[in-house]
Amino acid sequence: MQKFTSVHDVDDLGQLVAKVLSFKQNPFQPELASGKKVGLIFLNPSLRTRLSSQIAARNLGAEAIVLDIGKDGWALEFEDGAVMNGDKAEHIKEAAGVMGRYFDVMGVRTFPELKSREDDYSEKLMNAFIKYAGIPILSLESGTRHPLQSLADLVTIQEQWKGTGRPKVVLTWAPHIKALPQAVPNSFAEWMKVADVDFSIANPKGYNLADEFTAGVEVIHNQEEALKAADFVYVKNWSSYEEYGQILSKDESWTFGEKQLGWTNNAKIMHCLPVRRGLVIKDEILDGPNAIHLEQAENRVYSAQAVIHSLLNQ
Ligand code: CP
Repeated sequence: MQKFTSVHDVDDLGQLVAKVLSFKQNPFQPELASGKKVGLIFLNPSLRTRLSSQIAARNLGAEAIVLDIGKDGWALEFEDGAVMNGDKAEHIKEAAGVMGRYFDVMGVRTFPELKSREDDYSEKLMNAFIKYAGIPILSLESGTRHPLQSLADLVTIQEQWKGTGRPKVVLTWAPHIKALPQAVPNSFAEWMKVADVDFSIANPKGYNLADEFTAGVEVIHNQEEALKAADFVYVKNWSSYEEYGQILSKDESWTFGEKQLGWTNNAKIMHCLPVRRGLVIKDEILDGPNAIHLEQAENRVYSAQAVIHSLLNQ
């Protein structure tokens, strides 16, 4: 694997999932990457991704070096040919080029601005890091995807599925007060499409995700109909892709609670976190036996460990 920015970068998904589960059984193997340096570059906030990636690197014997470049670094210019007479002090060509010489592998988090769909979906920032760092890059969430989260989600579904045949997995939109990226739902859809599951999406009209992620997936605008007989429900808010970055609905009848759980096959309930309790998912669910959000978060460590190890051993 040369980079890890989407499921399409993975050579053998079954092998990668097996590697995650193997690290979960035996996490501390410091001989595997002793002396290696893993840069973790954040343009945006993080709790899980930051900590799980640091622990993952340390489990492998590598040193994890975190830079909150959005807070502690120089303001970065990404435009090619820019005359830098404004507030941007350093060009990505030098910043990424330097970091590429310091690290063996580098993780980057860049949220979308949700102003221009074209800018965000071109992945200009992530692609610039890939182009100028010259070392393997791992996405810690980008404008359009969150592959480390999706890998952990897939592993969690495999671990938790006790039935026979393919589980029914439903991604459902839920309300939020802020305009959130589509990266997590895009990515989850992309990974579920190649997983051994029956996958569908529930969202209000105006919230359909981009075709490049959901082509061939059934999208249902009635939550009750969509959740019928679901074995796993992934609850997530996202802002509109169609009316880009807009909040079109705050309909709290989509908030996931006991009523929604009752429409399912006693489903396991998933969320990537952070989650706004009472608004996205009700306490009765998050504090109840069906919630597996903490299992997802735990699996972030072993997912990052498998990906970092693969990138260091390409
Ligand atoms: N799920 C997730 O990526 O969490 P953080 O934003 O806290 O890293």
